[in-house]
Amino acid sequence: MKIFVTRKIPGDFIESLKVNGNEVVISEFNRPLTQVELLEKAKGVDFLLALLTDRIDGDVMDAVGPQLKMISNYAVGFDNVDIKAASDRGIVVTNTPSDEVNESVAEHTWALILALARRIVEADEATRRGAYKGWEPDIFLGHNIIGKTLGIIGLGRIGSMVARRSQGYKMTVFYNKREPDPKAEQELGVKFVSLDDLYKQSDFISLHVPLTEETRHMINKDAFVKMKKGVFLVNTARGPVVDERDLVDALRNGQLAGAGLDVFDNEPNISPELYNAPNVITTPHIASATWEARNKMGEQAVGQILSVITGQKPENLVNPEVWEKRRR
Ligand code: DGY
Repeated sequence: MKIFVTRKIPGDFIESLKVNGNEVVISEFNRPLTQVELLEKAKGVDFLLALLTDRIDGDVMDAVGPQLKMISNYAVGFDNVDIKAASDRGIVVTNTPSDEVNESVAEHTWALILALARRIVEADEATRRGAYKGWEPDIFLGHNIIGKTLGIIGLGRIGSMVARRSQGYKMTVFYNKREPDPKAEQELGVKFVSLDDLYKQSDFISLHVPLTEETRHMINKDAFVKMKKGVFLVNTARGPVVDERDLVDALRNGQLAGAGLDVFDNEPNISPELYNAPNVITTPHIASATWEARNKMGEQAVGQILSVITGQKPENLVNPEVWEKRRR
């Protein structure tokens, strides 16, 4: 089988693809491929190991050729792949959710919440430039987290792990998702509320929804005006869930006390107003960047290709409806 890996990944997992005569090519560039490069390099392959920076739509699938059997996406999110186009063509798509990745993203979310509330990045920057002249009663006043209200939008695996970590802070946790989740309510002590109520009552709002047509720009000016004044927003999900222009305005007019952002509307571009604002913390889409998480992602992305080659149903099939009628 011909397998193309669109970019080198941490660990030596790719080596294990090189069995039974498989022909494995890894992109020689340590950067995302352009669409032209992707088409050129992937043409004629049976399997693609893709990253979230690769846009794979129906045209790309057709250009790769009718032998393309699988896209193994090295990410939990798969908004970079047109799933309907893949399913229509009998192409199997997999992703890489795991406890390791979910924990990693939940930990990063909490790192942002804590750093925002206690102004860690601003204070570090001031100390480094020599601005610390001795204890003062009123420098870098922040907010306690204990007893505050956390609003989680999207209580899936990652959202639930974020909720679990709030217990030590004795927070009230509200959540919103498509349907109430009585089991999670019992286990985590969280409460389902409407989005409007979540906006109105939360001191911290954390986003954990996938990017879909429904969630694109769901956090926009209409949502911001409904939020409690002085709320902190954290986004470790997908950038386009938040309308970045409206976010800049909400930060400027004080509706938001701050924002912790790991993802952006138009990555890798970031509105200069965001990285120039002292009450915004930006990280470069690294919520899953721990050795534990990335090793697991590599193991899964490669393991699922090997499963499909040997006719076994992979664990994390994004489009299960395609399995019986998949391309072989
Ligand atoms: C994911 O897995 O979707 C993260 O955003 C990238 O690791």
